[in-house]
Amino acid sequence: MKVLTSESLRDLYLNFFKERGHAVIPSASLIPENDPTVLFTTAGMHPLVPYLLGEKHPAGNRLCDVQKCVRTGDIDEVGDSSHCTFFEMLGNWSLGDYFKEQMIPWSFEFLTSPEYLGIPAEDIAITCFAGDEDCPRDDESADKWIECGIDPKHIYFLPKSGNWWGPAGTTGPCGPDTEMHIIRNHAEADKLGPYDFDKAPAGTFLEIWNDVFMQYNKTADGRYEPLKQRNVDTGMGLERTLCILNDKSSVYETDIFEGAIAKIEQLTGLKYGEDEQITKAFRVVLDHVRTATFMLGDAKGIVPSNTDQGYILRRIIRRAVRFGRNLGLPQGALNEVSKTIVAKYASVYPELVANAAKIEEELNKEEAKFSKTLAQGLKEFEKVVASKAAGDKIDGVTAFHLYDTYGFPVEITQEMAREKGLEVDVEGYNAAFAEHQAKSRAGSEQKFACGLADHKEETTKLHTATHLLHAALKRVCGEEVNQKGSNITEERLRFDFNFPRKLTPEEVKAVEDLVNGEIAKDEPVVMKEMSLDEAKAEGFTGLFESKYGEMVKTYTIGDFSKEICGGPHVERTGVLGTFKIAKQENVSAGVKRIKAVLVK
Ligand code: ALA
Repeated sequence: MKVLTSESLRDLYLNFFKERGHAVIPSASLIPENDPTVLFTTAGMHPLVPYLLGEKHPAGNRLCDVQKCVRTGDIDEVGDSSHCTFFEMLGNWSLGDYFKEQMIPWSFEFLTSPEYLGIPAEDIAITCFAGDEDCPRDDESADKWIECGIDPKHIYFLPKSGNWWGPAGTTGPCGPDTEMHIIRNHAEADKLGPYDFDKAPAGTFLEIWNDVFMQYNKTADGRYEPLKQRNVDTGMGLERTLCILNDKSSVYETDIFEGAIAKIEQLTGLKYGEDEQITKAFRVVLDHVRTATFMLGDAKGIVPSNTDQGYILRRIIRRAVRFGRNLGLPQGALNEVSKTIVAKYASVYPELVANAAKIEEELNKEEAKFSKTLAQGLKEFEKVVASKAAGDKIDGVTAFHLYDTYGFPVEITQEMAREKGLEVDVEGYNAAFAEHQAKSRAGSEQKFACGLADHKEETTKLHTATHLLHAALKRVCGEEVNQKGSNITEERLRFDFNFPRKLTPEEVKAVEDLVNGEIAKDEPVVMKEMSLDEAKAEGFTGLFESKYGEMVKTYTIGDFSKEICGGPHVERTGVLGTFKIAKQENVSAGVKRIKAVLVK
């Protein structure tokens, strides 16, 4: 296998696809544009959803890129050898152009050719979709791999849970995927039958690339009909691939973090890898500083706050501060580490350089803010711990006190509690939080305001109106109507949905009446955070499926609307004014657009 750096791997990948007619497009923002279902971009395909659904992409129908991604589901796991909150995904797309017959030979060539990754074909295992009552086994892919030179005994079949991508619970484009894995343990791999992939001991295989073949449209009545525009969507994790190719045991040992590790070693006199605790703390600081740097340095950069993306950023920086203190990092060190990250990525993500001053200022500000209360908060925490026995719970009011007075995000308190064999009563914490919010609204001073200060009032109102519109359309036009896109400015909302024709004047009126009825009722808008699976089980709608167990925010409006959404929203519908549909447009044969306004 080749020894590659992050720079050469990016170039190699993009050049491979450029030579095969693909336009190289820049990474989209980490903050999703039109997608209310997740807080951050979690995969390369994420910003391309409208084009996968048929909208024309200005750069053509063969695209490739390196996309910045953030996945926040496992923040507390960061510190082990595999978890990261930020990563880059190499990807290429066919928007209704080539399909399996072309993609699989290209994947094989890129993986095995000495000009590219040079991985021996006998070290590659493939998984394909096993087939079920909806769709047949993906023998087309399996046969293609064999034709390319993959040993048939290294081809395995998995059900939808393993080899399928797309909206499982909702309608839309989806299809089987085929994943490529490096065989790390041939003896174990050779014991497995074609349906036993999941039975292999951990470490037998390492996944390196995923080719998704979107060839079906899941209809509202649950059928999988062939899709008109068949797409290819692929994703290769840059760090993971580097790690495998260079035979490293963790992404932290790749060239990406060299400068940052040297900086921490210089500041602390410690050595990465010295012992388990030190290594964990190094990794937390490395990962979290990198993620914070990218969040702050994004073109749509965010800042630490108490809501939505800003809260995740705050939590990440504060966790880095806590682990940094364990290493003896002095105040201001996070910014020193961040500078090495900016330098490492400067040529690939110039926005980091352009926003360097902002990154520095915000990191220092947030670190200073938390540092002020950290030592005292830790003392307070120790006092609480001293009064507990193993297995006890820290009550919600105490956890809220640690947040409100010492700035400890509840997740940090939970992690510290776990380290001591304790739990936190999170429901109690939420209740204390809600009570505090209610009091603050009634006029008392609020230190850690959980509000919508970051968002313009009119935009926020239109966000809530969009949920009401979505729910009203489902009632008037049918349950199968789903959001296909949304864009909100201060003046208007724009909502795309699947429907074959424009609404009649009667339907327009019925939708407006339903929305205005909910406004008149002054319903509360209630936010609750939960896993995507829980949200689906509870019947919340969302734009499309994420595969990664992401935590999502759900918003409920009376018994009228239940949606997964990043927010922001108003607290009660009564403030919206009068809802009016201003315009209808045709996006494509199956997708219509409504523009609507709120009149005061
Ligand atoms: N969208 C696919 C993934 O993220 C390629 O794995």
